Order: sequence, then C-alpha cells, then structure tokens
Amino acid sequence: MRGPAGGDGYQLVQLNNGTHSLHSLAYGETFHPVIGPVAEAQALYVKQLRLRERLQKHAGDFVIWDVGLGAAANALTVLRATRDLACPIRLVSFDCTIEPLAFALQHADALGYFGGYETQVRAILEQHAIHFTDGARTVNWQFHLGDFPALLAAGTERRSPTRRASGSPSRHAGSETGAPSPHAILFDAFSPAKNPAMWTLPLFTNLFRRLDPQRPCALPTYSRSTIMRVTLLLAGFFVGVGHATGEKEETTIAANTLDLLTEPLDHRWLDRARRSHSAEPMVDSVYRIAPLAAESWEKLQAHPQFT
Ligand SMILES: C[S@@+](CC[C@H](N)C(=O)[O-])C[C@H]1O[C@@H](n2cnc3c(N)ncnc32)[C@H](O)[C@@H]1O
Repeated sequence: MRGPAGGDGYQLVQLNNGTHSLHSLAYGETFHPVIGPVAEAQALYVKQLRLRERLQKHAGDFVIWDVGLGAAANALTVLRATRDLACPIRLVSFDCTIEPLAFALQHADALGYFGGYETQVRAILEQHAIHFTDGARTVNWQFHLGDFPALLAAGTERRSPTRRASGSPSRHAGSETGAPSPHAILFDAFSPAKNPAMWTLPLFTNLFRRLDPQRPCALPTYSRSTIMRVTLLLAGFFVGVGHATGEKEETTIAANTLDLLTEPLDHRWLDRARRSHSAEPMVDSVYRIAPLAAESWEKLQAHPQFT
C-alpha cells in the first residue's frame, strides 16, 4: 500500500494496483486490501452468488442483506452490476457506524465507485432509507444502524412463530425484525482476529434462524478458514468451497440449500477439520483458537451435508 490520506477514524489508502480503499485506524485493517473494492465485490459477491442469473429468474423482490455496509463498495457494485435487469431489489444494509460511508463519500472521486449513486448514498446517510428507480428496476434500500449481533439476537427473540409463518414480520424501530428474510447475504466484517464478535457461532446460528427455509439464500465470505467453515456448518448452513477472488485463492460460500453450492465441502475436508488445531467455533467476542471439541465433532458428523 502507498501513502494514506488522513481522516478521523479512517484513512484513504492507495493499493499497489492503483485503486483506493479505506483503512480503519481503530481496527488496523483495510476494507479491501489487495485487489480493491470493486474487483473484490465483483468476484466475491456478484460472480460467486451468480447474482445476474438468479435475478433474471426471480419473481418479486430479491432481498439482499449487506452486513457491514462500511464504505458501500459491495452495495454499490452489486447495484451497478444488475441495473439492466428488471427484478426489483430490496437492499438491507447493516453497520454499527455510518462514519466510513460519510468519509468515503468525501473521497468519492478517488474511490471511483459512487458515480451515479451519490444522491442515494446521501439519503442513506441522512434518512437511512431510500426508494428509487435505478435502470430497469426499483431499489428499496434501508440502513440499520447498530450492533449486528445484538440486532439479530433481538430480532430472533421477538420473531414469533405466527410472524414467521406469515412471512411478514412486524417492524421494530432499531431492530432488524422489519427486514424481510434475505435471498443473498454479503457478509463483510473485519477479520475474525480483529472483529471476533462478528464471527461467533451464536451470531451465525441466529442468522440461520432468520432465513426463510422456503427462500434459497447464499452467503459468500472471503474467509476460507476451518474455524469459519465449522461455525457456518454448526449454525445450520450447508457450506462449500468458494471461488478465488484474485486476493484469496479460495473463499467460502454457505447456503440454506445445497442447490446453491457448486462444490460442497466433503469428507476429506471433514477429516482435515478433525485434525486442525483451529476449528472450534468462537462462542463470544474473544478471539480464540482451539481444536474441535468432542461435542462439535459429533454434531459435524451428523450434519445433513455429510450423512
Ligand atoms: C471490511 S468493513 C466493510 C466494508 C464494506 N462492505 C464496503 O464494501 O465498503 C467491515 C464493516 O463491519 C462493520 N462492523 C464491525 N463490527 C460490527 C458490528 N458489531 N455490528 C455491525 N457492523 C459491524 C464495521 O463498522 C465496518 O464498516
């Protein structure tokens, strides 16, 4: 990385390939550190989710959860890559701070991916919601400010069986329960070592419970670590090998149906996980490395993906 340009909690950094990204001073991490924001969002989400293909076949609103809105590179890249398709998009973004988005908008020229969406981003900054026509479709974009694990835990608790069955949960101010269940999730927290609260088994268990079993949903993430994959499996997801992104030679994709995975993890992976020194999910927000506990190994073996 080359020279940073200053800001409060964030810096603009130029990557070796000439593109720019944000660096968080508090976390000591760059948002998209190697290939840059747009290339990473294209590879990890647009391509991996086969988003255009799914939207072309989809009837009704296609719901995307954008976990870790940050500087909106993922959100805007997904919107731009699909704007010629007629399928309406419901985009639900989550973050515990709006600061990186405000900072990024001030550096829109260098970042290069805001073009044409500045008005909408300003609306998200100021009102946390906007409904607009974008190319061939409408977009309903909402932002939920707050601690994602806490929002999810509160939403899961409040979601009664009656609401779940109706598929139209009521809205709670400040809670994610007003958001419809997703068809796709862009999961982009900082790394497990720096941001462990976003990678725990309780979080992914609550996230899985929040999905509609009748609504196929996939979640790609840049991590390919054994601990992450075990966490997703024990939370209830099916888990597969994800594409290379140019930054990582392999990533991970999880889903609530095997149909959305091209290369599900197999028994060879399971054997390696059993021998790994770092496979036991984190249960709280303290980063910790440990081999699989006997109970987790039992549960993994009983997972429908391996039986
Ligand atoms: C790598 S950045 C996301 C980059 C973003 N997706 C983009 O395209 O610009 C990670 C984001 O996760 C958010 N985050 C970290 N911990 C969180 C939490 N507990 N709840 C909600 N958001 C959180 C951070 O504020 C940060 O914006």
